[in-house]
Order: sequence, then C-alpha cells, then structure tokens
Amino acid sequence: MAESDVQVAVTPYDLVGRADVVRRIVDRFYDLMDEEGFAELRALHAPDLAPMRDSLTGFLIAWLGGPRDWFTRNPGKCVMSLHSKIAVTQQTARQWCDAMRLAIAEFVPDQDFGAKMADALEGMARGMVRG
Ligand code: HEM
Repeated sequence: MAESDVQVAVTPYDLVGRADVVRRIVDRFYDLMDEEGFAELRALHAPDLAPMRDSLTGFLIAWLGGPRDWFTRNPGKCVMSLHSKIAVTQQTARQWCDAMRLAIAEFVPDQDFGAKMADALEGMARGMVRG
C-alpha cells in the first residue's frame, strides 16, 4: 500500500490546534466578559471564573473530538440541561456568541473552520434561550 493510501483521521480537535489552543480560546472568552459590552453575561457568572475556565475548556476539548475527560469526570452531566436553570435571554446569548466568536477568530489558525465552529456553538446557545 502506498503511503498516500493511509487514511489519517483528522478531528475538529486537531484542526483547532488541540488542548493548548482550546484553553487560550476559553481564557480569552472569559477575559472578554470583563470588557465593555458583556456586562449582562458577566453578571450571570460567579465572581471567580477559574472553575468555569477549567470546565468549559474540558467540555470543548471533548465536544471537538479530543479526550473525553470532562464527560468521565461528570457522568450524566448535560450541558443543555445545566443551562435550563440559568435565565439565558436573547441578549446574554448574543453576548456569549459574540465573545466566543471573537476568541475563536483570535486563536484558531484556519479561519473558515473557526467560523464553522462558532456557528455550531451559536446553534447550541440559541437552544438555551428561555422565554
Ligand atoms: C447561551 C448563552 C450562554 C449563557 C448565558 C451561559 C451562561 C452560563 C453560566 C451563568 C454558567 C455558570 C457559571 C457560574 O456558575 O459561575 C455556565 C456554565 C457553563 N456553560 Fe454556559 N452559557 C451559555 C452558553 C453555553 C454554551 C453554548 C456552552 C457549550 C459550548 C456552555 C458551556 C458551559 C459549561 C461547560 C459550563 C460549566 C458547567 C459546570 O462545570 O458546572 N455554555 N454558563
């Protein structure tokens, strides 16, 4: 078999740049929350964002097809149900999506892929809006 026939599975996790890049995206995302334009979103969160930085990083790594540690650590935890207890409005969902899109654009090397990733997350975020 010629070397070119070998199929190498490339996951979205690889395209993003793996764990280091996911962590950078999440850190930027939560840093943006302290900037102008995201006050309502920030107000929904606890003062200490450190546990959320770890949790969202772990979730996104698994969601992108990387190591599934977040799901192993949180058996039965569903990210959609988790948000049913949070009063997510159109406004806070918009802020979440805008901050995430900016953070992704800053760190994901393939801009087309980054835009698709932001679109997919926006779909999830829309499903979390209540009322
Ligand atoms: C629709 C807009 C969204 C809003 C307003 C929102 C808001 C929140 C809030 C307030 C928390 C709890 C923070 C705290 O206790 O300090 C949280 C946790 C979390 N959110 Fe969201 N969120 C949104 C969308 C998303 C989306 C689309 C995802 C998935 C990609 C996500 C993933 C998570 C994760 C993994 C946690 C941590 C859960 C835990 O470890 O307990 N969120 N979110």
